[in-house]
Amino acid sequence: MGTLFNKALKNARFLSFFNVRFDILRMSLRGAVQPFRVFNKVNGMKDENKTIKDFGRQWSIFRGNEGFYGSMELFSDILHPFLNADEIRDCRVAEIGSGTGRIVNMVLEAGAKYVVALEPSDAFEVLCRNIKQPEKVNCLKMTGDQLPADGNLDYIFSIGVLHHIPDPKPVIEAAFRAIRPGGRFLVWLYGKEGNAFYLTMVMLLRVLTKRLPHFALSALVRVLCWPLLFYMKLCRKLSLPLQEYMVTVFEKMSPEKRRLIIYDQLNPSYSKYYTRREAEKLLIDGKFENVRTHHRHGYSWTVIGTKP
Ligand SMILES: C[S@@+](CC[C@H](N)C(=O)[O-])C[C@H]1O[C@@H](n2cnc3c(N)ncnc32)[C@H](O)[C@@H]1O
Repeated sequence: MGTLFNKALKNARFLSFFNVRFDILRMSLRGAVQPFRVFNKVNGMKDENKTIKDFGRQWSIFRGNEGFYGSMELFSDILHPFLNADEIRDCRVAEIGSGTGRIVNMVLEAGAKYVVALEPSDAFEVLCRNIKQPEKVNCLKMTGDQLPADGNLDYIFSIGVLHHIPDPKPVIEAAFRAIRPGGRFLVWLYGKEGNAFYLTMVMLLRVLTKRLPHFALSALVRVLCWPLLFYMKLCRKLSLPLQEYMVTVFEKMSPEKRRLIIYDQLNPSYSKYYTRREAEKLLIDGKFENVRTHHRHGYSWTVIGTKP
C-alpha cells in the first residue's frame, strides 16, 4: 500500500506540472489511502501490543475486585506452597501486570511497606482508582521490561501475565535487575499438563473469540456459563478434569467474576500454555536460583526463584 501511495504521489507531482492543484490531489489521495493504512496497522500490530489493547478493553468493562476474586483467601491460595501472606509484611514489592489492582491490594492488606504497580494498558486508570492505600503505591504505566532497576525489592509478583507476553525474557531480566540479592520472584502461569481436553476446546474457540467485538464475546460468555455451571456442579460429586480448580476457586466466585474468568480466557490475542519444564526454564534462564514449581490445582504453574 505504501509503494502504491508513493507512485500515486509521483504521478500527482507530474500532473501539477500541468497546473493541476497538487495540494488538493495530495489530500484526496491521503484520504483514500488512510482507511487501508489503519487496517494494515491494526493487522500488523505486534501480538504483545494487541494483547495489551485487549486487556485495556477487558478491564474497562470488568473494573471491580470485590468478593473472593480480590480476597486474602485467594491470595494465600496463589502464594501456596511457597509463601505466606505474613512474609510480605514491611517488604518492598512490585507487581508486573497489575490489571485492575486486585493483587496490589492483597499485597497492601498483607502489610507491605510499598508497592510498585506496573500496568501498560488503558486499565491503568482503573488500577489507580482501585488502589486502597495510594500513599504506599507507585503506579507506572509501562511494560514489564521497563521496570526500574532499583535493585532493592524484596519480592516481585507477576500473576497471570507472562503467558500473555510473546517474549517474556526482557521482563524477567528487568525483574532480576530490580530485585535485591536474596529477594524472590514469584510468577503464576497457565499450564499445559493436565489440561488436554480443556486446552483443545479453548484453542478452537480462541481462533474465533480473540477476534470478536466485546458485545459478541460477552454474549458468547453468557451462553458458555450454563454448561460450565453444570460441569461445576458435577465436579462436586465426580472426579473430573479441573475438579480441584472448580471446587476450590471457580465455585467461590460471584456470577460476574465467573463471566470475567471465561472472558479472560477467550479475549487476549496472545496466550501460551506452559509445560513444567518451560515454566521453570523462564526463571532458570533469567539467572534466578533455587527455582521451584508447584502444579497449582492441577492446571497451572506457580514458579518461584531467588536472586543470588
Ligand atoms: C490476566 S491480567 C492479570 C492482572 C493481575 N495480575 C491479576 O491477577 O488480576 C494480565 C495483565 O498483564 C498486562 N500485560 C500484558 N502485557 C504486559 C507486559 N508486556 N508488561 C506488563 N504487563 C503486561 C495486561 O495489560 C493485563 O492487565
